[in-house]
Amino acid sequence: MTPEQPRATSNPGAGAPTLPEGALVQSLLKEGRTFPPASAFRERSWVGDRTPYEDAERDYAAFWARHAEAELSWFRAWDKALEWHLPWAKWFVGGQINVSYNCVDRHAASWRRTKAAIVWEGEPGDDRVLTYQDLHREVQRFANVLKELGVQKGDRVTLYLGMVPELAIAMLACARIGAPHSVVFGGFSSDALRDRILDQEAKVVVTQDGAWRRGTLVPLKRFADQAVEQCPSVEKVVVLRRAGDALHCEMAPGRDHWWHDLMERASAVCPAEPLDSEHPLYILYTSGTTGKPKGVLHTTGGYLIGVHLSTKWVFDLKDEDYFWCTADIGWVTGHSYIVYGPLSNGGTSVMYEGAPDWPDKDRFWAIVEKYGISVIYTSPTLLRSCMKWGTQYPARRDLSSLRLLGTVGEPINPEAWMWYHENIGHGRCPIVDTWWQTETGMILITPLPGATTTKPGSATEPFPGVGAEVVDEQGRPVPANTGGYLVLTRPWPAMLRTFWGDPERYVETYWTRFPGRYFTGDGARCDEDGYFWITGRVDDVVNVAGHRLSNIEIESALVAHPAVAEAAAIGRSDAMKGQAISAFVVLKIGNEPSEQLREDLRDWVADKISPIARPDDVFFSADLPKTRSAKIMRRLLRDVAEGRVLGDTTTLTDPAVVEEIKQRYVAEGKEED
Ligand code: PRX
Repeated sequence: MTPEQPRATSNPGAGAPTLPEGALVQSLLKEGRTFPPASAFRERSWVGDRTPYEDAERDYAAFWARHAEAELSWFRAWDKALEWHLPWAKWFVGGQINVSYNCVDRHAASWRRTKAAIVWEGEPGDDRVLTYQDLHREVQRFANVLKELGVQKGDRVTLYLGMVPELAIAMLACARIGAPHSVVFGGFSSDALRDRILDQEAKVVVTQDGAWRRGTLVPLKRFADQAVEQCPSVEKVVVLRRAGDALHCEMAPGRDHWWHDLMERASAVCPAEPLDSEHPLYILYTSGTTGKPKGVLHTTGGYLIGVHLSTKWVFDLKDEDYFWCTADIGWVTGHSYIVYGPLSNGGTSVMYEGAPDWPDKDRFWAIVEKYGISVIYTSPTLLRSCMKWGTQYPARRDLSSLRLLGTVGEPINPEAWMWYHENIGHGRCPIVDTWWQTETGMILITPLPGATTTKPGSATEPFPGVGAEVVDEQGRPVPANTGGYLVLTRPWPAMLRTFWGDPERYVETYWTRFPGRYFTGDGARCDEDGYFWITGRVDDVVNVAGHRLSNIEIESALVAHPAVAEAAAIGRSDAMKGQAISAFVVLKIGNEPSEQLREDLRDWVADKISPIARPDDVFFSADLPKTRSAKIMRRLLRDVAEGRVLGDTTTLTDPAVVEEIKQRYVAEGKEED
């Protein structure tokens, strides 16, 4: 396959996503409130009018190039801003740059050297502040540690840590020497970690003894040991001490080293390596429509200007801000908006280790009060939990330092948007609902708070320079207020470049369904003002509490259980988490359905993948509805789980199966959380 010609799909109907239906779309259609920027906010913001949009429309590559030149420090200027051989992009070709230098050195060499770079709060209540000077020293030392362990430019390093400053330090150290990092969320199981290490053939794994979560220690090192045993590429394991005496930790002689021992010996001088603008910065695994998570590859110069400029403009980031993105660094949101975006801007990034309801349900608001957070970026699921817990929790804290609020990860229902506006922002703070993906690297559809009139529930409009539209099955743009598929029409600098080790799949996943355009996997509609209303995934991806999982991944875990013959997993709508997981299971002969087995299967999936993948309900069935080509009809199962009338069953081998499933599902009832 030549890079310039994405393959046309042989059967466009096969595996074609179905448009979403249901309550969310309806409630979005009724929303009519608008919130224009207050003039006081507009006057002080980086972007207070339409100029950047107009500017970018004239020539989007030149727009990005202008900002990349003005905002970032380059070792060598590029020859060409964009080389675009669809679907392969190269940004700032010939340019040399280092992300770590841009996020640390240039600020440590300025008046910002004593400014707080990372303000960290541990779950037990301990805290730490790292100035840019501190960060500079620690990052250089850890870069030397990595070198001493044999890590060279191009080698992969897996980071399996909780939310501790050392995670950011390790990422920046990898970036400094050109070793692509791959952060694996600390909530993932050892199997999930093993699969990711194997895929990227990592040389070094960095982990910690235990991570605090809701008052208990999660034994990350123990999980890492189970994974590393099966990964021949791993030569060294670095272990950060966080739990201390509270958790015993086995150290394999020769392979395992304590972080603090290595750091003590390391020199604090390690100049940043000039790297090609397209040098790989990191791999981050995300769930797609198959059982195997895919390694999304982000590179250097383009990614950095994308996250830099979006942080500056979307969050209107100023030097005096305390910016808190509440995501975990194990997800892309943390990569782009805890680490790289804020630090590249010389900002103060706040990082919290633990759970939002620990020790009490006001923890987030206590953190806002304690540090005087001015900009907070969180998820709709968190907001809906807070709504359920009640307004007394935010009400007992001083939130007057807040000036801007953000959300990400899933559609926000207008009710949660209004709750955020009233109970957290006290009617004073603009809300930015930001749409993007692991693959996009940066926020792509979003208000700019000083320039955009917001509407509750809408992510509003594409960021300057970004092209997006809503199309029908044939790829034709649909009229205003008509549902369709969200596609992106132009390359953008922070876009993924490929999947690690699987370029064919990159082409197939994003560039085949609608030739010439990037298919997001999301459904959307655009209103008469050109505002985008995202309605959720339209492919075999479930979004539970803002976390992406693939149906097939969950099904693969289920069928690996000795009692299971066949399984189907679907996302059904859930008022709190956006989507919840229902699993339909066919047992092998000789196994009987039971409450115990149901629980075992739920735990099994949590263990195989992560607690976030634990099915909310498991339903035992004699058979599964399938098409004549043996494809499981998940759409029908979703209809059953959501209690809707059955969809079209004309392609079913045995329509009676669905009817039977429906009746038993209703009879057995669904489990509550
Ligand atoms: O379905 C969209 C949803 O989250 C998906 C991307 O998930 P992930 O790669 O894990 O990245 C999440 C954080 C960037 C999208 O395809 N999504 C993300 N933000 C929004 C959203 N849906 C609606 N509104 C949003 N603001």
